[in-house]
Amino acid sequence: MAISVIPLNPDDHATLDAAYQTAVAAQAVDEPDLPPLCLRRFEASLRHPMPGIDTRCSVAWLDGVPAGWIRLYLHTLDNTETAGVELVVHPAYRRRGVGRALHEHALRSLREYGGKRMVGSTVTPLPGEEGREMPGAAFAAAVGAQPALVDVRRRLDVTALDRPRLATLLAEASAAAVGYRTVRWGDNTPQEYVADVAYLEGRMVVDAPLGDLQWEQEQVDAARIRGQERALDARGVRRYSTGAVHEASGRLVGWSMLSLAANTTSHAWQQTTIVDPDHRGHRLGLLTKIENLDHVRAHEPELRTIDTYNAAENAYMIAINERLGFRPVAGSTEWQLAI
Ligand SMILES: CC(C)(COP(=O)(O)OP(=O)(O)OC[C@H]1O[C@@H](n2cnc3c(N)ncnc32)[C@H](O)[C@@H]1OP(=O)(O)O)[C@@H](O)C(=O)NCCC(=O)NCCS
Repeated sequence: MAISVIPLNPDDHATLDAAYQTAVAAQAVDEPDLPPLCLRRFEASLRHPMPGIDTRCSVAWLDGVPAGWIRLYLHTLDNTETAGVELVVHPAYRRRGVGRALHEHALRSLREYGGKRMVGSTVTPLPGEEGREMPGAAFAAAVGAQPALVDVRRRLDVTALDRPRLATLLAEASAAAVGYRTVRWGDNTPQEYVADVAYLEGRMVVDAPLGDLQWEQEQVDAARIRGQERALDARGVRRYSTGAVHEASGRLVGWSMLSLAANTTSHAWQQTTIVDPDHRGHRLGLLTKIENLDHVRAHEPELRTIDTYNAAENAYMIAINERLGFRPVAGSTEWQLAI
């Protein structure tokens, strides 16, 4: 069995399509409850990476057949010593050393680049699922990575919302949020709030629990937010945001965003929700989330499910999500490997 690992040229459509199909087949086995990966998102992330990220994707050929791929996310603005990694092997070609060959190739590239560590996530068991086979976690442990942060994916069934309860929660949140008003927007942040969104986004790493992950605060400014918006446009990702404005200062001090991939009208991801520490305790997190649910439903009438990841120790955010009706569906672990 011969394995060779070759950088992926995004103009090589046949190989790119094979890599995409590999990811679709893997997801159908590893995370079957998620909608299929979006081709547009997959392609655009190679051609149009997020600002501050340089991506390198390589494909493993097993006896001349594309069997898996690895992608390194090299950070150029901050966290320059830490690379994100995504590694997928087609279920038909697993346990033949393809994953290990890709990993070793990425290690060599990262060493040449001057990186010090890799970070990647895998599905891991929820309590009660301990008997389930978890190839990603077994692989990560086999290459010497350490579990650094435990996350849980929770899901909201939008077809079974408890509307009276949401109305009560919204009334409570509105009563606690005296002196604040909400604003909504779609794909692009209004110019008057873009600097505040950048400030809030940059705080995420400081505010959300990171476990043992070595991750420094990201340098986010308005230009980077605009760059992210252009990169999401290239992927065809639709965005819905609700923010909380502090009326006395006119500043945006809280913000929650949902997004849908180009290939779905039924599934959304909950992205950032954050409230500036100086404005906590006014239920702005709950308020922006509930109002954003209304916002997305007004534009996406076929929406059925929303998924969100939280660090298992993020008690405050989890409490909000559980109150809205989100329930755990999968475990996930972020692994870190010093190289
Ligand atoms: C994880 C994954 C990439 C492994 O690919 P692979 O080609 O099967 O990996 P390898 O054959 O090189 O396995 C290397 C070692 O990992 C461990 N391993 C891999 N899969 C395993 C499994 N299902 N059960 C137990 N151990 C496993 C073993 O120690 C294995 O060595 P061995 O076969 O000599 O015992 C593949 O299962 C996959 O695509 N999973 C979904 C995506 C994912 O979780 N990616 C990793 C996160 S970035």
